[in-house]
Amino acid sequence: MDDTQPFYLYRSNPEVAKFQSWENYQYDEAEAFVKEQIQHQPDIPGSWFQFAIALNETDQLIGDCALHTLDEPRIVEIGFTLAPEYQGQGYATEAVRMLLHYLFDSLSKHKIIAFTDVRNRKSAAVLERVGMRREGHLLQNYMSKGQWVDEYQYGILKSEWARKDAFNER
Ligand SMILES: CC(C)(COP(=O)(O)OP(=O)(O)OC[C@H]1O[C@@H](n2cnc3c(N)ncnc32)[C@H](O)[C@@H]1OP(=O)(O)O)[C@@H](O)C(=O)NCCC(=O)NCCS
Repeated sequence: MDDTQPFYLYRSNPEVAKFQSWENYQYDEAEAFVKEQIQHQPDIPGSWFQFAIALNETDQLIGDCALHTLDEPRIVEIGFTLAPEYQGQGYATEAVRMLLHYLFDSLSKHKIIAFTDVRNRKSAAVLERVGMRREGHLLQNYMSKGQWVDEYQYGILKSEWARKDAFNER
């Protein structure tokens, strides 16, 4: 439950929420979210699971990575968020790489996908840095703060992941 305050602080930041579904995020929503995640297991078909991103040295919560296991559980969707003060240092890229590694090499997933608002340049850069391909431009695919916005769909197959032999290459 100690993570509630730092989680609330970055989630309620308007810059962090700019390309996300939520707006005016409240402390009680953060509290309910953390309480629910504590009891939740990853990789349940049809559900979202949130992994915390924490600093090795201090265990400070600096962001999160989301895993959405689809009803077809061999395909999963991912998402990610970092607190503003920890952006620009490669932490999201490192966390997403580890998530891909876990999903392909431990859970044997077939495909990983992600959606991003086309205006979210930083998010697209993370996805491209870890080797995901832009597979589609989906027109007016998402209702964001009262307007329909276009999204890019990114994807990577297990076969593509396996072909990249050195971890550092990704
Ligand atoms: C999307 C988001 C996580 C990206 O954060 P980010 O800090 O740009 O991503 P990273 O942590 O991977 O850092 C990459 C930056 O650090 C730099 N960097 C420094 N050291 C690095 C390293 N070792 N490895 C990779 N990048 C490094 C990169 O050059 C890059 O900087 P640049 O943007 O100036 O080119 C962040 O913008 C965010 O939380 N946004 C709000 C939530 C959101 O929209 N999420 C996406 C929904 S799909």
